[in-house]
Amino acid sequence: MKLVTTIKELQAELDAARSSGQSIGLVPTMGALHRGHASLVERSVSENDVTVVSIFLNPTQFNDKSDLERYPRTLDADCALLERCGAQIAFAPSVAEIYPAPDTRHFAYPPTDAVMEGARRPGHFNGVCQIVSKLFAWVEPTRAYFGEKDYQQIAVIRRMVADLGFTLQIVPCACIREADGLAMSSRNTLLTPAERAIAPHIYEALKASREFGSAHSVTTTIQYVVSRINAVPGLRVEYFSIVDGESLLDVSDWDEAPSVVGCITVYCGSKPIRLIDHIKYH
Ligand code: PAF
Repeated sequence: MKLVTTIKELQAELDAARSSGQSIGLVPTMGALHRGHASLVERSVSENDVTVVSIFLNPTQFNDKSDLERYPRTLDADCALLERCGAQIAFAPSVAEIYPAPDTRHFAYPPTDAVMEGARRPGHFNGVCQIVSKLFAWVEPTRAYFGEKDYQQIAVIRRMVADLGFTLQIVPCACIREADGLAMSSRNTLLTPAERAIAPHIYEALKASREFGSAHSVTTTIQYVVSRINAVPGLRVEYFSIVDGESLLDVSDWDEAPSVVGCITVYCGSKPIRLIDHIKYH
């Protein structure tokens, strides 16, 4: 695997692939890679001739600077994982390489970027669109792989792809979980052992809400999930929304949309660490 840090080196590596018509898979990441990322990379490797994994802790998507400061940075271990997964190129640029000047572009894709995370993390999805649009323009991938753990992010990126006319295929990949159900996330390494022990209650409540929801209304199911998680000392629900899986607007009836998804963010512990998860109802 080749580790490159500049756009020029990246382009040089990709020129040969492009001129011989090879397919290119892109897996955008912020590093601190885990098995969830590995599953995206392995899928890309199996579906494309060349796989590029970007490792870039994108400052413009962090509205909370302390979140950015404490985000884990593990480049050597990340490269070792990518070697094992069979990726051909790791692109790990500096902030100056990506943003030689402040990115003043403004992306707005309501309602997908205005609700849930968008409402609570001002500027977050704008920053995501800034970096992802740059990566798409430089790499020109055939396919780009994103984890469904960040369900809302995929909905926003789909809107951006349609808006900017990128011809690539977005490949959503199922959330990978620990044995006890906790959604894999780079932020999990920041949990203390006591926090890690209570975090699986989030997915337990989401799973239980499938059966509960089959006999109760959307509103009652939301109350059930929120009170069940808030009853665990150390966990506090920031929001739990049951939404149309495409528009991400709240639904009031289970059959209001072709796909219905529950999206949740929970504060865990005293620092606290924000944990995101979701469940598909249908
Ligand atoms: O999901 C992430 O890790 C990031 O939001 C992404 C897509 C790599 C953009 O920085």
